[in-house]
Amino acid sequence: MQTILITGGAGFIGSHLTRLFVTKYPDYHIVNLDNLTYAGNLENLKDIESSSNYEFVKGDIADLDFLTTLFTKYNFTGVLHCAAESHVDRSITDPLAFVTTNVVGTVSLLQAAKEHWKGNMEGKMFYHISTDEVYGSLGAEGFFYENTSYDPRSPYSASKASSDHFVRAFHHTYHLPIKISNCSNNYGPFHFPEKLIPLCIHNIIHNKPLPIYGKGENVRDWLYVEDHVRAIDTIFHKGKVGETYNIGGHNEWTNIDLIKELCKQMDVKLARPAGTSAQLITFVKDRAGHDLRYAIDATKLETELGWTPSLQFEEGLSKTIDWYLSNNEWLANVTSGNYQKYYEGMYGGEES
Ligand code: NAD
Ligand code: TYD
Repeated sequence: MQTILITGGAGFIGSHLTRLFVTKYPDYHIVNLDNLTYAGNLENLKDIESSSNYEFVKGDIADLDFLTTLFTKYNFTGVLHCAAESHVDRSITDPLAFVTTNVVGTVSLLQAAKEHWKGNMEGKMFYHISTDEVYGSLGAEGFFYENTSYDPRSPYSASKASSDHFVRAFHHTYHLPIKISNCSNNYGPFHFPEKLIPLCIHNIIHNKPLPIYGKGENVRDWLYVEDHVRAIDTIFHKGKVGETYNIGGHNEWTNIDLIKELCKQMDVKLARPAGTSAQLITFVKDRAGHDLRYAIDATKLETELGWTPSLQFEEGLSKTIDWYLSNNEWLANVTSGNYQKYYEGMYGGEES
């Protein structure tokens, strides 16, 4: 039996990835390592928490001694590294936290894996989950390709770019078997409501303003989170060692058009007169250094590994809204901070 370490499995993407691996691969033992920051929520994994091939460990990826002990205890054969500080706005307020988790944390994990696998790298895999934001900002034309030069412009993207460089450096220097994927913006269930889509869903439900930065003309390329984790599964099992794969769905929206579509769908689902939610749109001060446009070219992943996105955006958005509307308690717990008590209830507040 393979034992696989997923870091950040209590977060948005990590919880979908953990669920997919636990249910699809009963022969894998999955260990979810997460230190449950504000973004980590074990309620995201309620449906699989008692699976016999799943285990949760609370701990910090930046603690090398702890990681060394963990590798010795579990003898991991693979790592799927999702843990990160992930919100651009928070990186503008507190860049050092991003260096600690995204850079020091990633290098600590690489070091622990390298030392544990030294002399026997056969069949091992360190998979690093990254973002398209490392490539910088596009103008009206063009796409990000796997060989696009890095040009990060926010403390978040600079920390992720640095972590990508370290992953490649460990491959070239120590022959650590690695894979990297750089994905566009994700949306879907369990998304923390400080990011654009869940924040606006929450605010529409509560008749609160929808804050749109600047003129709402910035463009993001949105992918349903389950399509992202399916791509990670494909790359982990079929991708070439040492390679990078871009993941995206050719689905570009300006923020204002996206929020108008969201408002339209929410009016229908909440049985409010057409135009009600759009009245909540409020233009606010722009984000500092706000990247204009991201757009991924995922041809390599599609042609070499046969992955394609499964959902059109309107359908994915509709599924996402339905999930938030039928999971009021999750949303209330997250916005009130109550979800942080879940760990104490589940695990008695003990550190591993
Ligand atoms: P998230 O913020 O929802 O989750 C991050 C998780 O990591 C949380 O559970 C948190 O508790 C955990 N964590 C943070 N610091 C830790 C530490 N020091 N030790 C252990 N665990 C720690 O993030 P997400 O949106 O799920 O993103 C996951 C990964 O995917 C990140 O690496 C991010 O850069 C990348 N990514 C995200 C998107 C997106 O749209 N959200 C797009 C492309 C790539
Ligand atoms: P976000 O969800 O924070 O993702 P990222 O910054 O990683 O792309 O933001 C998506 C887009 O929405 C981005 O252009 C910033 C914008 N935005 C707003 O206009 N208002 C908001 O309240 C938030 C959180 C984001």
